[in-house]
Amino acid sequence: MPKTHLKHLAIIMDGNGRWAEQRGQNRTKGHEAGAEVIRDITTFCSNHTDIKSVTFYAFSTENWKRPKLEVDFLMRLLDRYLKNELKTYQEQNIRFQAIGNIDEFSKALQNRIRETEEQTRNNTNLTQILALNYGGRAEITQAVNSLIDSGKTHLSEADISSALQTPYSDIDLLIRTSGEERISNFLLWQLSYSEFYFTQTLWPDFNAEELNEIIDDFEQRNRRFGGI
Ligand code: FPP
Repeated sequence: MPKTHLKHLAIIMDGNGRWAEQRGQNRTKGHEAGAEVIRDITTFCSNHTDIKSVTFYAFSTENWKRPKLEVDFLMRLLDRYLKNELKTYQEQNIRFQAIGNIDEFSKALQNRIRETEEQTRNNTNLTQILALNYGGRAEITQAVNSLIDSGKTHLSEADISSALQTPYSDIDLLIRTSGEERISNFLLWQLSYSEFYFTQTLWPDFNAEELNEIIDDFEQRNRRFGGI
């Protein structure tokens, strides 16, 4: 059986709060540690020959329901992360892209996101995508509305695919950490033929070694895409 290639990896990072609580720390410490793991996993992906894109679920449309202090902390952390990361993006030839409705973020943060996208747009080794204020149903609804607005009355799957926020390739493998086994409105369209892997590890404890093991497991799977 030929080895299955992993081109696009998606990750639902879960368990930051529990990780911090287990240590008697504030939940924000878990998010800080989680941001470091995003950095490490992105570097791993940029050194991996097959992986061309990695998408992280960093902030969902439901995350606004968290206490304001935690939401504000996540926004500041994201801003700091992008500011510090620019050097790495350039050194490792990584393109940064955001998906989701970032219009609801502060103007300063929107500028940081757009500028980072702009400054890295010609990088070709890996695309790191952060899903920010993202919801899968919202993304599909937006795509359909834009097609209706353009005058279309009958839609094909290809129409919808191309109207999604980014000309977005299918996900080969989705990983969710912390033992939860849900999609939580992530990339609903793009996960149609994805393999799923759920690990008990809390996101701040996740690392390249475990990812390597998961990829080994993925490569043994027989993906039939509906065939036999
Ligand atoms: C889930 O943990 C994590 C999130 C809210 C999303 C991921 C956010 C980060 C890794 C923070 C840094 C992000 C960037 C882009 C700098 P949880 O709080 O739901 O954990 P719990 O289920 O244990 O409470």
